[in-house]
Amino acid sequence: MPTAGAHAWGRGLFCAAGLYCAVAALLAFAADDRGAAELVLEGGTSGPVPFPHALHQEKLEDCQLCHAVFPQRRGAIEALKAQGTLARKQVMNEQCTRCHRERKQQGKPAGPTACTTCHRKT
Ligand code: HEC
Ligand code: HEC
Ligand code: HEC
Repeated sequence: MPTAGAHAWGRGLFCAAGLYCAVAALLAFAADDRGAAELVLEGGTSGPVPFPHALHQEKLEDCQLCHAVFPQRRGAIEALKAQGTLARKQVMNEQCTRCHRERKQQGKPAGPTACTTCHRKT
């Protein structure tokens, strides 16, 4: 099997810089696991909603604060809205804006509650 042999040898050579290889694998794993650092959510007629995902993961730690309601998949919210499992604006009102408002009332760092600070028309 000359092809497989050459392939394995090639990978061995690539991984000869052992540390580089381990770090690259770790970064790839972390990126897969946590999803994109920055996402843009559909915002209907009010325009798209840029969402700093990594910032929320860092500040909130508990993934389930959001992902109890929709799975860890891009486009999941829109898919559940299309099925009627989630109402339109349900995530916006019951998660995003509610959390930001409650934290603001408690004097903690919070995100925006004004329509046009979340929705960006280009
Ligand atoms: C403040 C809310 C919130 C928190 C907390 C949160 N996420 Fe997400 N996550 C989202 C939203 C919103 C999406 C995009 C869903 C969509 O597109 O419909 C998403 C998408 C994802 C995706 C798919 C993104 C992609 O790039 O393909 C993964 C994976 C993911 N989250 C993992 C996590 C993990 C792991 C944690 C905890 C460490 C976490 N999330 C915490 C809101 C959150
Ligand atoms: C904290 C950020 C945030 C704020 C503040 C906010 N929105 Fe949203 N909005 C979202 C997100 C995220 C979605 C998509 C998820 C959903 O539908 O729940 C959305 C969805 C929408 C939709 C589309 C619903 C659909 O399915 O067609 C409209 C329209 C909308 N918002 C209008 C508004 C208006 C008007 C305001 C001000 C009163 C507002 N939004 C404030 C984040 C926000
Ligand atoms: C459980 C609480 C919680 C939920 C749910 C949540 N956020 Fe936030 N959000 C925060 C906190 C806390 C901050 C402020 C982080 C900081 O600056 O320390 C923040 C900040 C933000 C910011 C400002 C980031 C910046 O650079 O200043 C945006 C935009 C935002 N959130 C959008 C959203 C959207 C859209 C959703 C819903 C998909 C959402 N958030 C859901 C807690 C939440």
